[in-house]
Amino acid sequence: MKKILHIISSPKTESSHSLQLGRSIIERLQTVYPGSTVTENKLTDTAFPHLSQDQLTSIFTPEENRTAANKEALRRSDEVINQLLDADIIVIGAPMYNFGIPSSLKAWIDHIVRSGVTFRYDEKGATGMLQDKQVFLAVTSGMLYSEGPLQSLNFVTPHLKAVLGFVGITDITVVHAEGINLPHIKEAALEKALNEMTIAAAV
Ligand SMILES: Cc1cc2nc3c(=O)[nH]c(=O)nc-3n(C[C@H](O)[C@H](O)[C@H](O)COP(=O)(O)O)c2cc1C
Repeated sequence: MKKILHIISSPKTESSHSLQLGRSIIERLQTVYPGSTVTENKLTDTAFPHLSQDQLTSIFTPEENRTAANKEALRRSDEVINQLLDADIIVIGAPMYNFGIPSSLKAWIDHIVRSGVTFRYDEKGATGMLQDKQVFLAVTSGMLYSEGPLQSLNFVTPHLKAVLGFVGITDITVVHAEGINLPHIKEAALEKALNEMTIAAAV
């Protein structure tokens, strides 16, 4: 039994491809880990603001010196970090927007990557502090990136892998349903991506 956290970054509701892909991944995980619990966090429901001066000041104020206002500025960041710390498996829905991730997901990242909390600076440079977490990326894109002329323009997967690796998460399975907007591919795209996924990595 695992605690699964589903991060949803598409603003769309049930028609969202990345939402459907994420939920299908979770269904498969639940067959491997019966009784697993699922928490969904739809980022666009309560969108994070861009990082503000107040938040940055609070982040770099030592915990023992933080005022009530500093603590309030960090409240939402604390909430999502605690959600992350509590999860065993994180499924991140990431539709490709303009070759990268949606701004809702970028804002979430800016609030979970925190010095002294999810990574620390040290003599090696920086060390991630999140351990024993497993991530599944539910990536969807309108066009094809595994082959062809757009191959070098997929900034979704490398970016997410880099950021997650920075906070210590290296067990990452990418499930990319590509060609969602191409008439000859769209029907089969989700199914193909799921069939290529190996859950063995999750055990
Ligand atoms: C604002 C916007 C930007 C997009 N940019 C790209 C892109 O750069 N490359 C691409 O292949 N598809 C792009 N798409 C298509 C989406 O990646 C695709 O439809 C995806 O399945 C959307 O996921 P969702 O249904 O979960 O929102 C874009 C779609 C939108 C709405």
